[in-house]
Amino acid sequence: MKVMQLHRMHQRISVPFDYPVIFTRSLFDPRNPCLAKTVCRLAEHRRHRVFVCMDDGVYRRVPDLPRKIGRYFENHAGRLALAGPIEITSRGHHAKQGLTFVNRAIRWMADRKLDRHSFVMIIGGGSILDSVGLAASLVHRGIRVLRVPTTVTAQNDVGVGVKTGVDAFGAKNFLGSFAPPFAVFNDLNLLKTLPARERIAGIAEAFKVAMIKDRGFFAQLCRDAARLRTGKREVTERAIIRCARLHLEHIRDGGDPFESGSARPLDFGHWSAHYLEAASDYQLRHGEAVAIGISLDACIAAERRLIQSKDRNRLHNALLRSGLPIWHPLLHALDRHGNLRLRQGLQQFQEHLGGDLTLTFPGPLGRRVEIHDVSNAEILRGISLLKKKTAGGHPSDPRRHRYAVAQ
Ligand SMILES: NC(=O)c1ccc[n+]([C@@H]2O[C@H](COP(=O)([O-])OP(=O)(O)OC[C@H]3O[C@@H](n4cnc5c(N)ncnc54)[C@H](O)[C@@H]3O)[C@@H](O)[C@H]2O)c1
Ligand SMILES: [Zn+2]
Repeated sequence: MKVMQLHRMHQRISVPFDYPVIFTRSLFDPRNPCLAKTVCRLAEHRRHRVFVCMDDGVYRRVPDLPRKIGRYFENHAGRLALAGPIEITSRGHHAKQGLTFVNRAIRWMADRKLDRHSFVMIIGGGSILDSVGLAASLVHRGIRVLRVPTTVTAQNDVGVGVKTGVDAFGAKNFLGSFAPPFAVFNDLNLLKTLPARERIAGIAEAFKVAMIKDRGFFAQLCRDAARLRTGKREVTERAIIRCARLHLEHIRDGGDPFESGSARPLDFGHWSAHYLEAASDYQLRHGEAVAIGISLDACIAAERRLIQSKDRNRLHNALLRSGLPIWHPLLHALDRHGNLRLRQGLQQFQEHLGGDLTLTFPGPLGRRVEIHDVSNAEILRGISLLKKKTAGGHPSDPRRHRYAVAQ
């Protein structure tokens, strides 16, 4: 008998997502209405249950934060209720290693009997936003998330985006979900306790997005580099806000918010950054690895005449002046067969997305192009230029900044 198609139906649904990203100060000051108002934005007359999870690093620096949050909830008791005690989570990247921590967070949500109308508030850096965010996206197929990012990277990048994820089987973000938040609260005062190294690391994401989307912003960052390094408040805040805006615009207008194509345009420089982060056993911060990654890709982009050499140099100099590394010895590590280990980064990047290898490069400055191959020779020439510029100094060596070439 001939096999034929009996019925063919076609289904198309679109689900709009919208969420506010609110920049504020002192989010938990009882007189600040942002939180209470926003949580109630869809149901004014209910009392909303909120489970709060807090990054251990934040808690150590601001030990009275849970008490302040408790007071805020008491002051807004008509509209908000804490769902059980506040939990203090693992610190930094530990929260993103496999599912151990995700499971713990799921258990917390189960114990509190959270439902799909409850909220999970995540206060912390990109690592716990990613891991607790993943847990929340799985429980009851998705609980509403309120993000309160507390690092520069989290406020200008992770927190405003639509992804969650944890590392597994040696691959960055091997497990994860697309899960837009209910709301994001960027409390700029929460950055005050951030160690300088973490603050500076987050600036790399601003350089990244500026190189591929906004040359005016790039020029501004170059001018501000030294003040970004010292942590001048207005300058850092201005960079965070502009970077967050560019990320939001890209997700909204880029045509592929859930990355079903082969490109990941916001991940310029990340193929090597993700590799370096893991290969350094997380000694390199995400942002530091990104600074090195975009420096390397800028070398390749200049060699291909996608950007001018002077713009590549401006990037390198500005990164160094802002206190970021552009070189790491792991860049030229070889495996036991004598192959460049860094190429594993390209392979993992491609495996993550599927399809042809597609990398986003700047070209020209402030715009982006997609490229589909990078040769070993190009990578090696880029690495050797970066090494020369920093005299091969180790990124943790404070003297490395001396190697910055005057602009
Ligand atoms: N989902 C995404 O779209 C996306 C995008 C970019 C990066 N990421 C991920 O984000 C992670 C990096 O995030 P990160 O740079 O925010 O680092 P992090 O979350 O690992 O935090 C770094 C350190 O800062 C501490 N900390 C956080 N806030 C603090 C504060 N206010 N005061 C004092 N200490 C504080 C943390 O406890 C931790 O020790 C990486 O795993 C990266 O993969 C995800
Ligand atoms: Zn990043």
